[in-house]
Amino acid sequence: MNKFIKLSLLTAATVVGSNSMASAGDVEVLHWWTSGGEAAALKVLKEDLKTKGIGWKDMPVAGGGGENAKTVLSARVTAGNPPTAVQMLGFDILDWAEQGELANLNAVAAKEGWDKVVPEALQKFAKHDGKWISAPVNVHSTNWVWANKKVLDNLGIAQPKTWDEFVAAMKKVKASGLVALAHGGQPWQEATMFDGVAMSAGGSDFYKSAFIDLDTKALTSAAMKETFERMAVLRSYVDDNFSGRDWNLASAMVINGKAAFQIMGDWAKGEFLNAGKVPGKDFLCFRVPGSAGTVLFNSDQFAMFNVGASAAKDQAELASSIMSPAFQSAFNVVKGSVPARTDVPNTDFDDCGKKGMAQLAAANKSGMLFGSMAHGHANRASVKNAMYDVITAHFNGEYDAATAVDELADAVSIAK
Ligand code: BGC
Repeated sequence: MNKFIKLSLLTAATVVGSNSMASAGDVEVLHWWTSGGEAAALKVLKEDLKTKGIGWKDMPVAGGGGENAKTVLSARVTAGNPPTAVQMLGFDILDWAEQGELANLNAVAAKEGWDKVVPEALQKFAKHDGKWISAPVNVHSTNWVWANKKVLDNLGIAQPKTWDEFVAAMKKVKASGLVALAHGGQPWQEATMFDGVAMSAGGSDFYKSAFIDLDTKALTSAAMKETFERMAVLRSYVDDNFSGRDWNLASAMVINGKAAFQIMGDWAKGEFLNAGKVPGKDFLCFRVPGSAGTVLFNSDQFAMFNVGASAAKDQAELASSIMSPAFQSAFNVVKGSVPARTDVPNTDFDDCGKKGMAQLAAANKSGMLFGSMAHGHANRASVKNAMYDVITAHFNGEYDAATAVDELADAVSIAK
């Protein structure tokens, strides 16, 4: 058992044992926003709620991507003591809804007209059986690269536009003695890179067929082999100490000029901002070369658990606060994500945020918006986890690309 899971089970046991309950007027919120940038964004939410007289009972479970949080949540629900509200992603929301655990937010959704302002792609995960079951707080995207501008300038490297230019840039950085690619060796981080690399290697039809439709032909295609080959190239540009490193520490390597690039979702921007860095001046944000025009999204949503009638009023208030246009702007400016509503002005967003908003709208219109495999928006957890295992084993040298393709197809056929 790895140390993260052990730790979260321990946490779960403690929480279940203490039978902690939020008192009336408080909402207990389970989330994994524990990095500096994430905590800064969370503060925006907590303070917004304070002005509405809603108390916050914090239930943080560290671990990027939320795997540990999921373990703790299951333990809480099994013990009959679910939190009031839970940060959740994609298919996990639908799974809990199917189990009948989630509260119905239709009254507040109808009153505030959520149907008209939340994009269809998000509603797919926020509604179940005609009922709103969660409030989407943002839209993140995984196919981004974050770069230290000074490092690139010093080495005479222009922003890479193609995969080959990206590899040439990493080669130059490595030759200079700096780390080319900052990476944390955890399965979810490898899968996050895989999202953008797959899109770059195979294009949007391939991405959709392989990761959303689970089509065997796409899963065993030359594009999949190329994706694994590109991952092996990336592996050759990470430093020796990557194993187990948290994602925000990898971001810090880029922020501090120890590394040139990080391939990570736009929550990484929250770390740059939290360190006082300015897009365009200190750092660059651009799509994984070869994937421009597409957006691989994940949306943090707050699902409300059925914890009784007395909590329902606070849950509706929390959902309403999360969905307010002013809050969606203030929160996402700090978080690195973009609003989950289509009617929020981009005025307060920095250049990366403005770019993210425009690209999301364009991709939504042109059919180039796809759910992130790595963050549970392409398929159910069983399939996602099966993919994680193969991607990580390959990244760590257990399989060559051809074997990884076979293993992936096998793992998916068992899991689906
Ligand atoms: C979430 C982000 C979070 C990131 C790293 C993602 O799954 O959507 O909100 O910042 O994980 O923890």
